[in-house]
Amino acid sequence: MNLNERYIVKIIDEDNIGNGIAKIDNKIIFIKNALLNEEIEIEIIKNNKNYMKGKIINIISKSNKRVNPVCKYYNKCGGCNFLHTTFENEIKIKTNYLEKLFNRKVGYLNINNELNYRNKVVLHIIKGKLGYFNDKTHELCIINHCNLLNPKINLKIDELSKMNLKNINEIMIRCINDKIMINIIGNISNFSIDCDSLYINNNYINGEKYLIDEINNYKFSIYPESFYQINREGMTNIYDKAKSYIGTSNSLLDLYCGTGTIGIWMSNNFNKIVGMEINESSIKNANINKKINNINNIEFICDDAKNIKEKFDSIIVDPPRNGLSKDVIDYLNNSGSNKIVYISCNPNTLKRDIDLLNKYELIDLSYTNMFPRTKHCESIAVLERR
Ligand SMILES: C[S@@+](CC[C@H](N)C(=O)[O-])C[C@H]1O[C@@H](n2cnc3c(N)ncnc32)[C@H](O)[C@@H]1O
Repeated sequence: MNLNERYIVKIIDEDNIGNGIAKIDNKIIFIKNALLNEEIEIEIIKNNKNYMKGKIINIISKSNKRVNPVCKYYNKCGGCNFLHTTFENEIKIKTNYLEKLFNRKVGYLNINNELNYRNKVVLHIIKGKLGYFNDKTHELCIINHCNLLNPKINLKIDELSKMNLKNINEIMIRCINDKIMINIIGNISNFSIDCDSLYINNNYINGEKYLIDEINNYKFSIYPESFYQINREGMTNIYDKAKSYIGTSNSLLDLYCGTGTIGIWMSNNFNKIVGMEINESSIKNANINKKINNINNIEFICDDAKNIKEKFDSIIVDPPRNGLSKDVIDYLNNSGSNKIVYISCNPNTLKRDIDLLNKYELIDLSYTNMFPRTKHCESIAVLERR
């Protein structure tokens, strides 16, 4: 089998990043955007020792789960992976992947909005043109619209793409509660655009210092540099599930707490809650959130999670994609806590960490399609002490 050779293959499986899988002479070949059971003429574009990659030349028999992508940038900007199939099939593929990875049944927390769900975007600017970086080629894909974004963000992108963006490297736009926050990063000291909150190089310029989301009767403040979940429906799913998994007890640790949203969400279930988070801006918001929600049983600490020592009845961890460090795994194994709820945006590091948490047993696992049409999803696991 050589590069550029063409074959007719039948797709026998699908992976979790939008590839169909076939075999040629028993060697696996991944074909971007191919779907289960399709018969396809492909061309070999990569031939490694253990696997090959192919591209679709002609679909001979089409899956009834195939749809026309709703985006002209699909496969160019690198953001979406499942626009070539139905939303239902994307969920089926993600569920299958998780069930195979964890070798167990995985609950699904429903998401209605497959598009326009993102409340934040970071755009890159090269030579005055604005767009997304393709995560594989690192090339700029110039855009003036993205179907995943809140429509108000798209209006701002369209406006910005007609402006002079000289000396600007990056623009962050957030839309919370219909208000727009913009943070311009670059070699500039002033910029004028109509919005509710303007920052330049993370320095406040005008408008509101932070935006406030209102959800489930709670108020959550957000500075430009703070972490905030990008999909409101997914956030509610995960927080409600975390609340039901964690139950009630005396004390809770919310490790990697961001702006303190999870602790505030379940503040009635505990006498004492401690949130720990490394990012100063998020901790500033967490303390504002405590105040504006009149919550007195939470304390927020700005520190690296690896420095946590105190013991708690229950623990929630919600680390970034790379998962838990060895120090945190050791802390959790020796914590004596009855329950750990692990929220994760990366199933592979979740699996690795659950295997390392050998003093705990996985009791239940669910996920929500927090990032529809992309390869990502958000899982939530509850573990009990053995
Ligand atoms: C996925 S977010 C979760 C935030 C929060 N639980 C929420 O739902 O909004 C992960 C958070 O971990 C923080 N973080 C990353 N590395 C950390 C570390 N070593 N120690 C503590 N926090 C860290 C990030 O700043 C980010 O706010």
